[in-house]
Amino acid sequence: MSADDQQTNIDDLLLENRKFPPSAAFKKNSLAVGTHLYDQAAADDEGFWAQQASELIDWDQDWHTICEWNVPYAKWFVGGKLNVSYNCLDRHVLAGNGDKVAIHWEGEPGDTRTITYSELLVEVEKFSNVLKSLGVVKGDRVNIYLPMIPEAAVAMLSCARIGAAHSVVFGGFSSQALADRINDAEAKVLITADGGYRRGEVFELKPAADEAIASTPTIEHVVVVKRGGNKVNMVAGRDHWYHELMATASDNCPAEPMDSEQLLFLLYTSGTTGKPKGIMHTTGGYLTHVTYTHKYVFDLHPESDVYWCTADVGWITGHSYIVYGPLSNGATQVIYEGVPNYPANDRLWSIVEKYGVTIFYTAPTAIRTFMKWGDDEPAKHDMSTLRLLGSVGEPINPEAWMWYRDTIGRGECPVVDTWWQTETGGIMISPLPGATTLKPGSATFPIPGISAEVVDDAGHRVDHGGGYLTLTRPWPGMLRGIWNDPERYQETYWSRFEGRYFAGDGAKLDSEGYLWLLGRVDDVMNISGHRISTTEVESALVSHPAVAEAAVVGANDPTTGQAIIAYVTLRGGYEADETELRNHVAKEIGAIAKPKMIYFTPELPKTRSGKIMRRLLRDVAEGRNLGDTTTLADASVVNELQKRAAEAPSED
Ligand code: PRX
Repeated sequence: MSADDQQTNIDDLLLENRKFPPSAAFKKNSLAVGTHLYDQAAADDEGFWAQQASELIDWDQDWHTICEWNVPYAKWFVGGKLNVSYNCLDRHVLAGNGDKVAIHWEGEPGDTRTITYSELLVEVEKFSNVLKSLGVVKGDRVNIYLPMIPEAAVAMLSCARIGAAHSVVFGGFSSQALADRINDAEAKVLITADGGYRRGEVFELKPAADEAIASTPTIEHVVVVKRGGNKVNMVAGRDHWYHELMATASDNCPAEPMDSEQLLFLLYTSGTTGKPKGIMHTTGGYLTHVTYTHKYVFDLHPESDVYWCTADVGWITGHSYIVYGPLSNGATQVIYEGVPNYPANDRLWSIVEKYGVTIFYTAPTAIRTFMKWGDDEPAKHDMSTLRLLGSVGEPINPEAWMWYRDTIGRGECPVVDTWWQTETGGIMISPLPGATTLKPGSATFPIPGISAEVVDDAGHRVDHGGGYLTLTRPWPGMLRGIWNDPERYQETYWSRFEGRYFAGDGAKLDSEGYLWLLGRVDDVMNISGHRISTTEVESALVSHPAVAEAAVVGANDPTTGQAIIAYVTLRGGYEADETELRNHVAKEIGAIAKPKMIYFTPELPKTRSGKIMRRLLRDVAEGRNLGDTTTLADASVVNELQKRAAEAPSED
C-alpha cells in the first residue's frame, strides 16, 4: 500500500484466521445449504426477490412491476396489494395453526402470558376497531410509547391492518423526544401505558406522555394500557383505558388490502446531528425482506423453533425481528419485558431454559456485559436447546464472538453476525448458517439478493482492504425516504458516492472476500496519517483476557494529529495494567495503534440502544464541555469519566 493510500483509506490491521464451517449436524436440517440461493440471486436479483415475495407472502393482488428504480427512489412490487397483519396472523389461523403459541411473554416481575395466533388475531381485530372508533383512517399516523408488553405488537399490527402508519417511540425516551416525534409525524392518536417494569420498579410513562401532549396539537386521543398499576391522571374525552375500549370492541375487522407502497411505519433515528429523521418504510417490499431474512438467516423451522430476540420494540430490530419477520413466518417467540440483571445476572439464561429457546438474537453490548458478569451465570442453566445465535447493532469483537459461541453456544451453535440499519429495514450482510463458513467478528457476505461494495474516497471499488461500505442496488426493505424531508434523504444517503447508498460505516474486505465492519467512518482516527478504525483497536483490547469491553477514540494531539485514547472495562477478577494492555495492542495489530492513554472504568457511556457513544468520550478526552447528552442511557457514567480525566497525570 502506498503512503498515499494510507491517507485516504482505512488501514487494515487486525488479522483473524479462525474459521468455522457449518457442522454436518447443522447442515442436515438447514434450509439453505450450499450456494443455490446465492446463485439464483446473482443470476437475476429482481427475479429472486419476486420469487421470495410470491413464495413467502400472501398477496390480494399481483404486482405488475417488480422494482421501479429512479435513484434514489425505489418502489417494489408495484401494483400489488396485501395486508401485513393478514400475513402475520390470519393466514396462520386459516392454515390451522391458530392454537400455536405466537408469544411467550415474560414480565419482569415473573408474571407470564401465553398468546396463540388465534388470540393475537382477536386482539388485533378488536384494537383495529378501537382505532377506527377513535377516528383513525388509512394514511393517518399513530404514535406508540409502550413498555415491552404484547400490546405493543397488537398496536402495531392493528395500525397495519387498517392502513395507518405507526411511529413507535422507545419507552425510555423523554417527553421532549416523544413530543418532537409526534409533532414531526403529526400523529392523531397516542398509545401508551400507565407505566412498566424496569429493574424491579415501576417506571412511569403516562406522566411523560402527558407532558409531551401538552405541546402536540395533533393528538386527539390517548389510549392507556394498564401495566405498572401506578396512579395516572386521565383527561375525560381525551384519555381512554385500553381494557375499557377493548371490552366493548367487536372482534370482526377484516384486513383491508393495501397498496404495496402504502406507508407501514415511521421510525425515528437520531443520526449524529440535527433533528431526528423519520425513516419511512412501506408494505410489500419491507414484509418480503424481513420474512425472507428471518427465515434464512435464522434458519427458522417454525414447527419446532422457539425464537427470542432481546431487542426493544422501539428499535428497528424490534420492528423487523420481533413483530413483522417472526409473526409473518408463523414463529413461536419469547418476549421479555425487563432488564437482563433482574432479579439476578442469570435472568436471560433462566428464560432460555424455561421456554427451551432455540434461536437467540442479541447485541454485542449485551454479550460483552455477559462476559463481564462471568461464565458462572450461564453455567447455572441448561441451555442445550440453543442451536443458533445472532448478533446485531455494533461490530462484534472476535473475542466476544468466540465467547458467545463457546460459553452460550457450547462451542456448537453457529453465530450469525448481522449487519443492517434502521434505514435498510432488514438484514443485509450476514452468514447463512448452513451455508457460510464463519470467521469470528466478520458479518461475512451480503445475503442473496443484496449487493454491497467497499469503495475508497474517490468511489472506486476496493477488493482488499478498508474503505466505505456502499450498497449498489435497491433492495425491497430499503427506506423510501425521510418523512417530510426529501432533500435530507438525498443529501444524507445518496450524495457522497454517485448512484450508491452510503451507509456511514467503514468496512474492509479480507483476502477471501469476507466483509469486516469497522464502525462509523466519523469515528475513524487519524494517527500520523494512518486511518485507523476504532473497532480494530477495541477488538485488540478485547482479545486480552482481562478486558470485557473497550471504547477507543482519537483525541487531538500536537505531534500525531490524533492520539488513541482507550476506555476499558475489565472482566470480573482482573486488575488494571495499562502497560500490559498497551503492549498487547502493539503485539496484536502494531505499534501505530498502541493507545497513548488507557482509562479503566466500570461502565462505558452508551446510547439507549446500547451503542458506545464515542463522541462523548472524545469530548471527555479533549476536555470539552459535553455536547448533546439526551441520547445517553446513564449520564453518571460520563461525569465519572470526566472527573478521572481531570485528575489524570499529564502524558509522557
Ligand atoms: O454502524 C452500524 C451498526 O449500527 C448502525 C445502524 O444502527 P441502527 O439504525 O440503530 O440499527 C441497529 C439494528 C440494525 C450501522 O450503521 N451496526 C448494526 N449492526 C452491525 C453494526 N455494525 C457492525 N456489525 C453489525 N452487525
